[in-house]
Amino acid sequence: MKFKSQSISWAFFAAALGLFALQLVYGFIMGFARVGMDGLHEWIPFNVARAVHTNLLVVWLITGFMGAAYWIIPDEADRELWSPKLAWIQFWSLMAVGVTAVIGYHFQWWEGRKFLEIPRALDWLVVANVLTFLFNILMTIWKGRHMTTTASVLFFGLLTAALLYLPGMITFESAVLDSYFRWWVVHLWVEGVWELILGAVLSYLLIKMTGIDREIIEKWLYVIVGLTFLSGILGTGHHYYYTGAPRYWLIVGGVFSALEPLAFLGMAIYAIAMARKGGRDHPNKVAMRWTLGCAVMSFIGAGFLGFAHTLPQVNMWTHGTLVTAMHGHMAFWGAYAMMVLAIIAYAMPQMTGRVRYRGWVAETSFWTTNIGMAGMTGAFAVMGIAQVYLERKSGMDFLDVQEAIEVHSWGLILAASLFAVGALLFIRNFLSYGRPNTEELAA
Ligand code: HEM
Ligand code: HEM
Ligand SMILES: [Fe+2]
Repeated sequence: MKFKSQSISWAFFAAALGLFALQLVYGFIMGFARVGMDGLHEWIPFNVARAVHTNLLVVWLITGFMGAAYWIIPDEADRELWSPKLAWIQFWSLMAVGVTAVIGYHFQWWEGRKFLEIPRALDWLVVANVLTFLFNILMTIWKGRHMTTTASVLFFGLLTAALLYLPGMITFESAVLDSYFRWWVVHLWVEGVWELILGAVLSYLLIKMTGIDREIIEKWLYVIVGLTFLSGILGTGHHYYYTGAPRYWLIVGGVFSALEPLAFLGMAIYAIAMARKGGRDHPNKVAMRWTLGCAVMSFIGAGFLGFAHTLPQVNMWTHGTLVTAMHGHMAFWGAYAMMVLAIIAYAMPQMTGRVRYRGWVAETSFWTTNIGMAGMTGAFAVMGIAQVYLERKSGMDFLDVQEAIEVHSWGLILAASLFAVGALLFIRNFLSYGRPNTEELAA
């Protein structure tokens, strides 16, 4: 660790992993409810569990992004964080808002819009919190010795992610308009500006671990940014097919979203090419594995499985089914969850001065989570495809179909159990690193 203030990331990483574990609990509540074991129904009905599961996902990822930024930005700017004190205030207030929202959901205090359930009053606190965070990061870059491309792209991604939160806060009478602008947040996040964050973090990790020149890696980063904007912005149209939005979106959305996998393919090729070319054999093999794994799995989950249902001819049948859940799991996992786990795996040895990346715990965690997630994706795929044929093509009743596909939820639970073991091993490995060690720096 170069700067003492980087150790603040530890709190963000620890919180992210805690919320990740809690997210899985709600996943299991839904998984078991799907096979009829819904003893918690009175207190946590399926819709509540679903909202908590998906919101915890978003909160832990954002917490992880912030931890990543507090680690990367001082390193890139070559100075201490502008205000560690402000960062601590921001951390605790973020946790307070997050916990309040999650508790509130259990009492149906929400907006009922998938992924954007947070009630308006709390939205404003989120905005204040994120502005504080961005200000601190910006000041660090501003006062720093260097302004690197990697740091700029990371900052730009975080800034635009904050700006794009705002269209989700406008109130519309019309459900069509409400849904239209909801996608400016949901789609333009994961298939737009979050990809910049992803590209920047991968770039940082590759620069650090492969030993290849910054200039070469950052040139690739520009290509990724270009491909992302070229395809992702108009690609939003793949959510406007039969929603009451104008018909031209059928062609615009179809064509541009079909190009979106290119950015993810570019990222996978870039990561693998750099790793192969890199002369330096970085000792932290597990961090390298998470980095490359992230680049590859995001292509499979987002690029390949996203493409699978992005054309209007397909989406008209698959929309809102478990085919969407199939893609949603692998895409979020491959791109953003694995990215957060990669930066944690890279930063922990440096933050604590301890070596815990050798041995079976770290290694097994990578494989079991990924094999488990592949199994879960498969289970959702089987359920989703069966659902499309039975419900949409043959006209069977919604609930009869859910019953018919129930048996596959056992497959989901089995695969999810393997995944959860891997996740717990990652947390165990994280805990074994202990707290940050800044003594060496002080000396
Ligand atoms: C890392 C990037 C991505 C993530 C995290 C992601 C995640 C998701 C999630 C969670 C949904 C459900 C959203 C909702 O209903 O509110 C969704 C929907 C969708 N995604 Fe992605 N996605 C990503 C990239 C892509 C890409 C690159 C494509 C196309 C090539 C794509 C195609 C779609 C389509 C067509 C839908 C709508 C499904 C429906 O009609 O029900 N996604 N995605
Ligand atoms: C213990 C592991 C997990 C289980 C058992 C589980 C189960 C589920 C279930 C049953 C649903 C609702 C599907 C439906 O509508 O019936 C769901 C939704 C969702 N889960 Fe998970 N999940 C787990 C882990 C994860 C992880 C690790 C991620 C992300 C990295 C994730 C992301 C999502 C997303 C994005 C949705 C919404 C999908 C959509 O828009 O249709 N889940 N999950
Ligand atoms: Fe999208």
